[in-house]
Amino acid sequence: MRIDIVTIFPDYFAPASVGAGPLGVSLIGKAAGRGDVDFHVHDLRQWATDVHHTVDDTPFGGGPGMVMKADVWGAALDAVLSAELDSPSQSAAQTSPAPPATTPSSPARLVVPTPSGVPFTQDMAASYAGEAQLVFACGRYEGVDARVVEDARARRIPVDEVSIGDYVLAGGEAAVVVIVEAVCRLLPGVLGNERSVSDDSFGGGGGAMRGLLEGPVYTRPRSWRGHEVPPVLLSGDHAAIARWQRDEALRRTAARRPDLIRRLAAGDGLDNRDRTVLLEAGFPVHGENVAH
Ligand code: 6GU
Repeated sequence: MRIDIVTIFPDYFAPASVGAGPLGVSLIGKAAGRGDVDFHVHDLRQWATDVHHTVDDTPFGGGPGMVMKADVWGAALDAVLSAELDSPSQSAAQTSPAPPATTPSSPARLVVPTPSGVPFTQDMAASYAGEAQLVFACGRYEGVDARVVEDARARRIPVDEVSIGDYVLAGGEAAVVVIVEAVCRLLPGVLGNERSVSDDSFGGGGGAMRGLLEGPVYTRPRSWRGHEVPPVLLSGDHAAIARWQRDEALRRTAARRPDLIRRLAAGDGLDNRDRTVLLEAGFPVHGENVAH
């Protein structure tokens, strides 16, 4: 997979090619080292045309802050969206000018991080992991002129405006790191442990824990500062262990994310034993008669 990131702060991502910065370490760094993902970070200002490399202007209609300019973003996305896949890895700066973005059937998906976007989910991460190219457009200030996304969609480029949560960041850069990490760990061979993906909190796979938060986990020693590992985990009774783990996941999810329990109940994802556990935890659920 190829990932392009357009930003006015390319230093935020450091030179991922030399193993530094958030794209160069840990799981993402290893995926990049193996060539499973190929990062290209671009400085938006290289597409500004004036001597001051201006990328923003005051908003029509008034209001606070500045809006990022359509012409600068348009030129940047024309270049990046039509870049050849499998081109050799290059640093941010001088790449040769690309042909116009009217190339038919561009394999790229444009992702625009914004607090006003649709919530980014594990299902979207799994879908992104199957894309050939993702292009992230990092906005700053009060956002990007709305015609940039409108124009990309008019050119049949798939565009997602996504939010990573109900809070406001200063820009899309941190959100890109979050999304990239969620996607990269799902690439074939990256995690090396298929089950740990499907049992994850929000694991979208066919795992038994689908739709629930992950419960508590333990390792040696059995006793630590007077705290014992739950005895069932030492019992060797795999059915009892699986049931206990599901019960813990249900209790934790009911306490922390009651919205997920309601969703499971509405979607027929709870059996009678699940309902008993939840009732005992003070969280009664009644089949279909559940408010959203
Ligand atoms: Cl994707 N961007 C910004 N700037 N703030 C956010 C966000 C994204 N998601 C939540 N807050």
